[in-house]
Amino acid sequence: MVVTIDGPAGAGKTTVSRALADRLGYRYVDTGALYRAVAYAARRKRMRTDDDAALEELCRGLDLKFVTSASGQRLLSAGTDITDHIRTPEITMLASGVSARPAVRAYLLKVQREMGRQKGVVFEGRDMGTVVFPDAEMKFFLDAAIETRANRRYLELQDSSSQKPEEVENDMRQRDQNDSTRDLAPLVPAADAVIINSTDLTVDEVIEQMLAHIHKRVDPGS
Ligand code: DC
Repeated sequence: MVVTIDGPAGAGKTTVSRALADRLGYRYVDTGALYRAVAYAARRKRMRTDDDAALEELCRGLDLKFVTSASGQRLLSAGTDITDHIRTPEITMLASGVSARPAVRAYLLKVQREMGRQKGVVFEGRDMGTVVFPDAEMKFFLDAAIETRANRRYLELQDSSSQKPEEVENDMRQRDQNDSTRDLAPLVPAADAVIINSTDLTVDEVIEQMLAHIHKRVDPGS
């Protein structure tokens, strides 16, 4: 099946999606990394991120591919490993900006659907269950309190960024606002998504809840 996990930044989607895919023997696709890759490419070309014609042209020339290596999943752009360059606070905010642009969403919609042609995938993102895979067999929406999400992100960023806790929280509030109020594919739970709030749950507890829902879906009599 295709499993979708949507939700705001810092809700734990990446950790949970990766571990869930492992438990199921599925592939895992971090679609946020694709938006980050577009933002990174636009930044390198010093492009405006609201210029749709330029973004369309940029996307046409992109060649993005996930590969699995000893250090986990890596994202290649035209063969160059950009995994470590797309997590900076600057690219994070730019990714939220480019993700509101129609040219970028149209391009990545095709890329993501192509990746989902083979089943057995966990897709993590914002609109996986609503727009990209509306027919997915199992949809989750993972949420958590803003303070918890900001604190998790702050701890994650400590080695690579000098942002203060309040700056991380402000960026996150801004991103929540951008991602959930944009016209195209805003961040909202799909009507048929199972909503899990991870504020007071451990990663293992979230995964166990998800596995229980998946087993019930596969074998409703169990
Ligand atoms: O999950 P992330 O923080 O890596 O995502 C970066 C940005 O990409 C996020 O602010 C919104 C956008 N995004 C999106 O619009 N749709 C997706 N399916 C995934 C990410």
